[in-house]
Amino acid sequence: MRSEPIDIRDRGPYSVDQFRVKDDYKDDLECLLISEGEIDSRITCLADEITHAFGGRGDVEVYAMCVLKGAMQFFGALTPQLDLDVPVNEGAIKASRYSSGETITEEAEIEWLDEELIEGRDILVVEDIVDEGYTLQSVRNQLEEFNPNSVDVAVLFDKRTRRKVDVPVDYTGFVIPDEFVVGYGLDYDERYRDLRHLAVLNESARND
Ligand code: IMP
Ligand code: MG
Repeated sequence: MRSEPIDIRDRGPYSVDQFRVKDDYKDDLECLLISEGEIDSRITCLADEITHAFGGRGDVEVYAMCVLKGAMQFFGALTPQLDLDVPVNEGAIKASRYSSGETITEEAEIEWLDEELIEGRDILVVEDIVDEGYTLQSVRNQLEEFNPNSVDVAVLFDKRTRRKVDVPVDYTGFVIPDEFVVGYGLDYDERYRDLRHLAVLNESARND
């Protein structure tokens, strides 16, 4: 009962004036890829699939884990729509890969905030985007050290053309083209997280 992700790689974009975008952001955006309405509808569908999958697993408590900061909006839309009989604990981690000059680390550094909630629980990792795959791989590997009962991963956007490591994802919202995207929680230099749609950032805005 799991749907295929929506692959938008062969679909034309929207122009910035076809949906409501704040004036401060308009000049920085090349185009819009996915509207807020489409994202929200897709998240409802993912919530149903997760509810169905976890519902058949007995009475293990669930820990829903938001990967900060990019997944905050996805997490905030998804978790209230889960309808599970068992208690669901909510929490967050911070995962970052560090760059120096041209190189960026493969292993992500992870700040665990409440690792005592992981042991013996069914974990739902909620992540904004999987690109090369290293961040999610680090999260999965390091999670195992805290002995969860199971680990499921939900990712809103998948840039799979750029994947370097094959990391399993259980629930995927959209497959998107190889572009730097912002909005719906995703940032560039801490900007644009509050943009309601997923957009492609201009080259010039990235170099400012
Ligand atoms: P990965 O390790 O290459 O899979 O990178 C995943 C992380 O990089 C995500 O969790 C995001 O925080 C960030 N990231 C990757 N692509 C984008 C993008 O297009 N816009 C904003 N952040 C991105
Ligand atoms: Mg992220």
